[in-house]
Amino acid sequence: MIPFELSWRGGATEARLHKVRPGIETLPWGSLDLARYPAAHGIEARRIWSNGVFTEYASAAAFSALTTSMLACGAPVDLIAMSADIVVDELFHVELSARLTMELGGAVPLGFDLAAIAPVTTPGARPLMRAAEIAVTTSCVSESLSVPAMARSRALAGEPLIKGVLDRLLADEGPHARLGFWFLDWANEQLTDTERGQLARIAGETIEVYAPLWQEDADGCGGCPLPTGLGGHDAVGRAALRKAVDVAIATPLARYGIAIDRDRLAAIA
Ligand SMILES: [Fe+2]
Ligand SMILES: [Fe+2]
Repeated sequence: MIPFELSWRGGATEARLHKVRPGIETLPWGSLDLARYPAAHGIEARRIWSNGVFTEYASAAAFSALTTSMLACGAPVDLIAMSADIVVDELFHVELSARLTMELGGAVPLGFDLAAIAPVTTPGARPLMRAAEIAVTTSCVSESLSVPAMARSRALAGEPLIKGVLDRLLADEGPHARLGFWFLDWANEQLTDTERGQLARIAGETIEVYAPLWQEDADGCGGCPLPTGLGGHDAVGRAALRKAVDVAIATPLARYGIAIDRDRLAAIA
């Protein structure tokens, strides 16, 4: 397995990033007192945030692919610019989450072949459909689920640093979840019924991948310590995730004729 590692150049490139995404230095770095938490909570928090670094990195790759696909199908220029700008948001989130992970004691090892980081789309799909597939999986589904999960972690967070980082992430994630629907506003007339059916199936499959996040103990972790205050969430968060599937994903997608199979949705309750 290839270990997932980040590198950082610093200097002019770092300055450029922080010019467009300011504020990182005003967060209360160095304020975490891990001695106040059980050791198991600290370890679980490191696992959660290490995983968070990776998902932010994967989101940057997904919005990059979406940007390229939107360019290839002639989507509205301001919409493409938003997608490209979200890539920078996600890279800034990588920096924030990685720095927080270091404050928690460092990343837990994660294996991933970065050559496989780009989102997979249906082979041979036309550019419009390729963009629609990534818009649905990345924005309409994944980002719509990250909002309630992060919101619950934020509500439970006790440490000023954790609160500050989550506030920053949350402020961006809402618009990230809107982009996919705004793309569909433009693309929907050009999609065929068959393509809408394919998008519904892909959305359903993506939701199923995330289902363990709200299916209690489905990850087999049973008695995992909940690092309350350090970034974890709980049964209330899990219920919010399940609700978001209906309210923030399935219902709005159905307005575009992208109707996820009801039985399929019922099965992942
Ligand atoms: Fe993010
Ligand atoms: Fe995001």
